[in-house]
Amino acid sequence: MDSLNIDGLSVTFGRAIVSVVELTGSTPFPSSIVWYRNCGTMESQTREQEDKPLSGKVAVVTGASFGIGAAISKMLAAEGAKVVLVARGEKMLLETKDKIEKEGGVALAVKCDVTKRNEVKEMIKRSGSTFGPVDILVNNAGVWHFTFMKYAKEDLWEEIVDVNIKGVLNCIGAVISDMCVRKRGHIINVTGVRDLPLKGMAVYTGAKYFLEGMTRTLRQEVCQEGVKVTNVHLGPVDTPGLATSLSNMDDDCKKLYNFAESTNLTADASARAVIQALKQPQDVAVNDVCLVPQAFAV
Ligand SMILES: NC(=O)c1ccc[n+]([C@@H]2O[C@H](COP(=O)([O-])OP(=O)(O)OC[C@H]3O[C@@H](n4cnc5c(N)ncnc54)[C@H](OP(=O)(O)O)[C@@H]3O)[C@@H](O)[C@H]2O)c1
Repeated sequence: MDSLNIDGLSVTFGRAIVSVVELTGSTPFPSSIVWYRNCGTMESQTREQEDKPLSGKVAVVTGASFGIGAAISKMLAAEGAKVVLVARGEKMLLETKDKIEKEGGVALAVKCDVTKRNEVKEMIKRSGSTFGPVDILVNNAGVWHFTFMKYAKEDLWEEIVDVNIKGVLNCIGAVISDMCVRKRGHIINVTGVRDLPLKGMAVYTGAKYFLEGMTRTLRQEVCQEGVKVTNVHLGPVDTPGLATSLSNMDDDCKKLYNFAESTNLTADASARAVIQALKQPQDVAVNDVCLVPQAFAV
């Protein structure tokens, strides 16, 4: 089961419930809704483009070496996109590239730290000379730590701000002008569940709220230029990042949290939501997708 049904208030992808959140006050719908809006002009599409709308598109995925980003990259490649895999660790990055190529996909691995603006610019340059201009940017690289603010782990706060805020800005900054000139492009931001303050996650939550506010405004600025911006909000997902953060959390957090693996989302379910948002026709934009485990009450 892998469908996006726009009629209802919640939509099923595999075992997860998806709800898409209202973005303007002008819509008649109550809170959890699916809201699609026109963005750009309708293009006639060939049957092949309709079947595989991502075929031939150039997609940059940050944090692509493992976890959710690797799952998104593999699915994008299976859809025929040319995928630029971005992360700091080269070994895992090359392993993901290998897996994609073994399945007949096309990928380029670029070692790059998204917090370094010059590295991001270089990565986009390499992507351009190998595949051409970027059609899709998936801002997925992110870090978080479960720690109460009273412990003032300022180095960890800084890392969260650097990767989740500056890293995203560096990547958007490297592609947005070109997308506007070309009148096409889709930026996906992978983020957490909205309005869910979790103790021990204050700085991370703040960083993701930044993303939310920034992208709402960005969307207003670029939607008439044919550029789409989607925020994909996720509940707990089984990934190396979640496992590491749970094993490293401080004692206050240990008393609070027990994310049972069996009830978390899978990286594949998360990736499917991204692909569905990307596969909409050019005149349809998915602004927000919220994906949580079926038994996760929010
Ligand atoms: N897992 C969850 O429960 C969950 C829930 C909601 C939202 N999210 C969001 O989903 C995204 C992915 O999470 P995940 O669970 O898949 O994380 P993960 O398992 O820790 O994977 C993170 C990926 O990002 C890369 N990365 C980290 N810092 C980077 C940097 N400075 N520059 C480039 N790449 C970097 C990592 O590779 P290197 O370390 O080699 O660079 C890795 O490829 C994050 O934005 C997270 O906030 C996750």
